[in-house]
Amino acid sequence: MISVTVPFLSARVPLQPPSMPLRPSAWLGHEPFAFWLVDALRPRRVVELGVHHGASFCAFGEAILSLGLDAECVGVDSWDANDQAGRHAAEEALAELRSYHDPRYGHFSRLLRTSFDAAAAEMAPGSVDLLHVDGLHSYDAVRHDYEVWAPKLSDRAVVLFHDIAVVERGFGVHRFWAEISAGRPNFTFDHAHGLGVLGHGPNLPDSVMELLAAEPVEAERIRALFATLGERAVRDRAQRAAPRMQSSPIPQAPPLVMPPSPWRDWLVRGMPRPVRSVLRRVVG
Ligand SMILES: C[S@@+](CC[C@H](N)C(=O)[O-])C[C@H]1O[C@@H](n2cnc3c(N)ncnc32)[C@H](O)[C@@H]1O
Repeated sequence: MISVTVPFLSARVPLQPPSMPLRPSAWLGHEPFAFWLVDALRPRRVVELGVHHGASFCAFGEAILSLGLDAECVGVDSWDANDQAGRHAAEEALAELRSYHDPRYGHFSRLLRTSFDAAAAEMAPGSVDLLHVDGLHSYDAVRHDYEVWAPKLSDRAVVLFHDIAVVERGFGVHRFWAEISAGRPNFTFDHAHGLGVLGHGPNLPDSVMELLAAEPVEAERIRALFATLGERAVRDRAQRAAPRMQSSPIPQAPPLVMPPSPWRDWLVRGMPRPVRSVLRRVVG
């Protein structure tokens, strides 16, 4: 994996995370940040609420594998649907994910087919360092999921909320995010439907606190950097999709919020010389 250290973030930033043969997902634009976060946080246990085809879950797994961390991953999803067609699609998604996930990550990662509440009942309090909340997106659902899982968080945990930038009717993550992040260490990404990064507990590593305490100008650069790398990850995945995936219908991800191109020049110019040349090659 090609990675660099940038001046305002001490953990390495992956410029080209390995491309995994999974279906495209709205989440792919956050894959480079997932790699950075796992490196910075060094989580002992990762829990994801809402796995579906596995884009985000495998990003965490791949980061743990490539960094050689001693960590456990738990992906929770009901892979359920009310109608026959939906049930068939859910079975297919789970089988396809298992065929990739189990041999590659099965020694430290498991997929739990159950409800988020049932999985929480089995989880030790204070044992989760990284929680990704990506289930139903209504205000009530995301609030419920967070409240049920908050007692499971350790004293050095990060909680990620996907879709904080979606303000369509029915999506209430942005409202819950505004409430839960107020007055707490946090960082927001606007691209790829938005990702909220919430610091929880007094013992977060310095490398994570650097992000959560970034000054506005640094924060803009960090956003631009990860949006640009995320765009690149989405493009790569589309080009390198495994042939078996290309032959079956792939759900279209809604358009992503991309940084306008002048940002790229500004971003590249703001980096030290060695980073600049690598970044130029990567972002084109
Ligand atoms: C948006 S998708 C997850 C997307 C995934 N993180 C990705 O990277 O593409 C949400 C998933 O959460 C699951 N889900 C929602 N609420 C749930 C609950 N209470 N218990 C179990 N699964 C749930 C759904 O079955 C669905 O597969």
